[in-house]
Amino acid sequence: MSLPALDIHLTADDADAALRRDARRGLTSSPKVLTPQWLYDARGSELFEQITALPEYYPFTAEREALTGNADAIARIADADTLVELGSGSSSKTPVLLDAMRDAGTLARYIPVDVSPSALEEAVPGLIEAYPGLDVHGVVADFTQDLRSVPRDGRRLVALLGGTLGNFEPADRQHFLEALADALDPGEAFLVGTDLVKDEATLVAAYDDSSGVTAAFNLNVLAVLNRVLGADFDRSGFDHLAVWVPQAGRIEMRLRARRPMHVRVPELDLEVDFAEGEEMRTEISTKFTRERIRGELAAAGFSHDGWFTDPQGRFALSLAVRR
Ligand code: SAH
Ligand code: AVI
Repeated sequence: MSLPALDIHLTADDADAALRRDARRGLTSSPKVLTPQWLYDARGSELFEQITALPEYYPFTAEREALTGNADAIARIADADTLVELGSGSSSKTPVLLDAMRDAGTLARYIPVDVSPSALEEAVPGLIEAYPGLDVHGVVADFTQDLRSVPRDGRRLVALLGGTLGNFEPADRQHFLEALADALDPGEAFLVGTDLVKDEATLVAAYDDSSGVTAAFNLNVLAVLNRVLGADFDRSGFDHLAVWVPQAGRIEMRLRARRPMHVRVPELDLEVDFAEGEEMRTEISTKFTRERIRGELAAAGFSHDGWFTDPQGRFALSLAVRR
């Protein structure tokens, strides 16, 4: 199968330059921190796919159940001909929405947007084959920087699934929601999946699974730093941690140095020291309540027109309309 044509708004050079900026800031700050998008090189995207099949990682199954039970209502309220999916990854839950839009008689266009070209190259051919006549147009872009690259065609439903909104810092999240509201026309819709606050044991198990796949996903970011920045991180010197931080309502993935580490990062002309036990945060995954998401959407200019959960109430889809 030939590779699909993708619109590249983020070249490999742009992505490397952004990683250099983020790593310089994050490795020299206290505590050390990286933004989560670097987890998704080709290997990281593959590992994320494996995470979605883990028995402990309930958000995937729960969101799929919420979609399956409510896609018709979502399609009816959104009344869109174009589905734009931000952070689409493997687009594995998307067919539920595409089918509902097709059944409603509105579906014309699907625009998956992701920083990972490999994820789009894998996903798009199958969708073109499965939906003859559907205009499928993949966009490689960083949705935190570049929402203007999202095509304006048609009447749009923008989806951000998987709980990815929870990976933003609170201020960045509000900024993203405002930028998205700005990019939409009044009446266009936003469907956002958010994981919900629940007991700590369930949350921690989802991010520290017994087969070690999430640990491999987290540690893979060190391989990204080694490859792109010529760094010499020794992965065996770090442990994966998943910590529930109740005051912030979020799980944090961290890497903890097992022993004092001295790391060279030639591309940044930087040398970095880790004390034994020092932790670097690699991802936050915020867990929401209905009030919290509704308040944040309202503050950005959206009305909250639908709240759909899986039967066990673990994960929610909010359907918001640009006012
Ligand atoms: N939506 C899918 C995948 C979630 S994983 C699902 O629900 O299963 C998160 C996805 O967002 C990954 O494919 C990752 O490459 C992408 N991503 C993360 N940060 C991004 C950013 N800043 N811009 C665009 N895509 C991003
Ligand atoms: C993509 N994102 C919403 C996932 C999450 O649950 O925060 C990424 C992930 N990190 C560890 N496991 C899965």
